[in-house]
Parts: sequence; C-alpha cells; structure tokens
Amino acid sequence: MNYEKFYASRVSIMRPSDIRELLKWSLDKSVISFAGGLPDPKLLPKSFELEGLFEYLMMKNEYAFQYGETEGVNELKKEVIRFSKKYGGINANEDEVIITTGSQQALDIVSRLFIDRGNYVIVELPTYLAALQVFNLSEPQYVGIPMDDNGMRTDTLERKLKELNSEGISPKFVYTVPTCQNPSGTSMTVDRRRHLLELASKYDFLIIEDDPYGYITFGDEKMERIKAMDNEGRVIYLSTFSKIFSPGLRVGWAIANEELIRSFAIAKQGMDLSTSPVSQYIALFAMEKGIIEKRIPILIREYKKKRDIMLQSLEDNMPKETKWTKPIGGMFVFVWLKDAIDTKLMLEKAIKNYKVSYVPGKSFFVDGTGKNTMRLNFSYPSEEQIREGIHRLSNLIKAEYNNSF
Ligand SMILES: Cc1ncc(COP(=O)(O)O)c(C=O)c1O
Repeated sequence: MNYEKFYASRVSIMRPSDIRELLKWSLDKSVISFAGGLPDPKLLPKSFELEGLFEYLMMKNEYAFQYGETEGVNELKKEVIRFSKKYGGINANEDEVIITTGSQQALDIVSRLFIDRGNYVIVELPTYLAALQVFNLSEPQYVGIPMDDNGMRTDTLERKLKELNSEGISPKFVYTVPTCQNPSGTSMTVDRRRHLLELASKYDFLIIEDDPYGYITFGDEKMERIKAMDNEGRVIYLSTFSKIFSPGLRVGWAIANEELIRSFAIAKQGMDLSTSPVSQYIALFAMEKGIIEKRIPILIREYKKKRDIMLQSLEDNMPKETKWTKPIGGMFVFVWLKDAIDTKLMLEKAIKNYKVSYVPGKSFFVDGTGKNTMRLNFSYPSEEQIREGIHRLSNLIKAEYNNSF
C-alpha cells in the first residue's frame, strides 16, 4: 500500500535524520558510542532511593492514577518553585509554572504558540537539534548567531537585530541553551545574558531559555539564569527532571508570565491533557524525600570525572589543527576538525572500521556550516570507554588528515 497520498504536507518536513541509519550500527556492543545524549546508566534511580515509592503512590491513588490538571500536580509545582528559587535564583508563583511532558513538549508548545510560517526565529550556531525539529514544523525563517567560548555572540546578535529592524523585521524569539549547551558544551557569560535581555527589551522579542544542564555544573561558576534577571516577563524558562533524576519520567517544567502559562496550558490540553500524573508523583516523591538534592552532587562528581578524562584524552591523542570546547558542566564536548574533513562522510568509517561513533555537527547549524564538526557525549560511556574511544577516534582523524590536503 502506498501511504504517501494520506500524509499532510508537513510530513515532508519531518524527514528522519540521515545519520540515524548509520547510528543504528552503534548498537553493536563493540562500538564505543559518543553519539547519544543519555545520562550515565549507573546513575539512574536506585532501589534504595525509591524505597516506599509504591506505598506513596497508593496513598496518592485517587490523584496519581486519575486524570490530572493540565497545569500539573500542584504540590509538584510548589516543589519546582522551591527548587528553582534555591538553585536557580528564579522567583515564581504557582500561576507562573506549568509541568510539561519533558522540555521537549515545552519546545513543541513554543513552536505552536509563537511561530507562523515565515516568522523570524533566532538560534545559536550550533543549536539543539530536536528544538529545530519541532520549530521546523511551523516553518520559521532562522537567523543563526555564532558562539565562541563565552556563548552566543550578543554583539553579532545586536548587529543582526539592527539589520532586521531596518528591513521592518521583528523576530519572535531568541532560543538559547545558555548553560553547558547541547551540542557545544559552552556557557554564556553573565554579561552576555544581561546584554541579551537588554536587546530583547530594545527590539521587543521573547527569550526561550532552555536549561536542562544548569543544575549540573562542575565548578564554582555562578550561572545566573536569564529568567532570574528578567524584569519584563520576556523569558520563558524551561527545565526538566531528565538530567537530574530520570529521562524516563518525561517530566519537565516551564516558568513564564502567567498569561503565557495560560496559553501554554491551552496548547498542552490538546496535546496530552496533562503530563502523566503517575510520573509527576514519582518526581514529587523524589523532591519531597530530598533524593534529587542528594544526587546532584553525585552527578556533578561523576560527570566531572568523565569530562576530565575526555578532555585529557583529547589533549593526549588528537592531532594538531583540531580544537574542542571545555565545558564547565553538562554532558557534551564539541570538536572542530580541519576544514577539509566532512564528519558525516567519516562516520561510516568511524563505526565500521574504528568502532567508535559520534554525532556529525552539520545538522546543528541552521546556516549549513559545521561540516567539519562533531558532538561527543561523555556522560553515557564508561571512563574506560572514553579513554579507548578517544584513542580510536584520534587514530581515524589522524588518518583522515594524512589523506586530506
Ligand atoms: C537542550 C535540550 N533541551 C531539551 C531537551 C529535552 O529534554 P526532556 O527530556 O526534558 O524532553 C534536551 C535533551 O537532551 C536538551 O539537551
């Protein structure tokens, strides 16, 4: 049967990633994968942490196993507010919070609420691929702003905004992952965060601050949330339990002006009525028992160790003319190879001959650049796999450099 004629035209935008097929090969156990974006499987919730959970859920039976409010379980919203205040310096009341089915759903809602076809949306170069995938469905016009070691170049952004303004174009929002970005691992300085807010005010746009990694930074750097500095209600702040507790729960949250949260709720209602109340009560249990606050320092300690091993292995093995980011937290390192190298073309060789995989960087760049880049994940592989995998990858890259001009 030919199903093509049944599909809506937007399905053509949902093209599957062309590297997906190749990455399936990484399921082969002998391949060391730096391609995923998964938490360390050893750091998923432990049975001792979840002791009493079943009884807790049964105690909440008529709520946990029932339909729930679209905005989320009220007690969980209260916990999220307390947590966001304590660790993120964000002030919010219960009308300014909505529980979402992961941050991914919040991004989908952002796409539905704010983007009409042809609207201008500003993203970082590179940016989070799955955000692009949902934004794409609303067919925006992208403007990509380069990043350096200090995050998004807000000076370039300012120039671009002036240019757009002179053409009568007003972007809807800037989408940023300001702390330990996926895919680059880079963090935006506080000065630039302030500058971004000033620009939002001057040129009248919203800021989508996507912050799954801000709670797992390794040093003393104080990564002030943009939302915490927002006096005008321009920032829509997104975060999630995925990296600090469990991605399997599919529970995240958004904090924004209450008018925007009402719009979020209307959009969400048509998507899933509410985030699974069972999942929300598991998150609430983890919050109330202090499980999440206890595990954050452990995540930080373990991921820092892995980050250090990856950076040292890169230092020890990679040929000259290769550079990479030095993340202060999160889960990713981003690598630039010699211009002549195409990491997408190289991937097949990497997986089949060198038994190592990564994500080629090009699809993270809305301007079509980044062909010589790759994203490496350090949270999922073991310490030994990181050492060995970087060794293999470096051997491949050295061989490729020798073959290139
Ligand atoms: C920048 C960014 N935003 C959003 C998400 C989605 O997170 P969630 O599991 O909460 O849907 C991820 C997950 O990797 C991410 O890296």
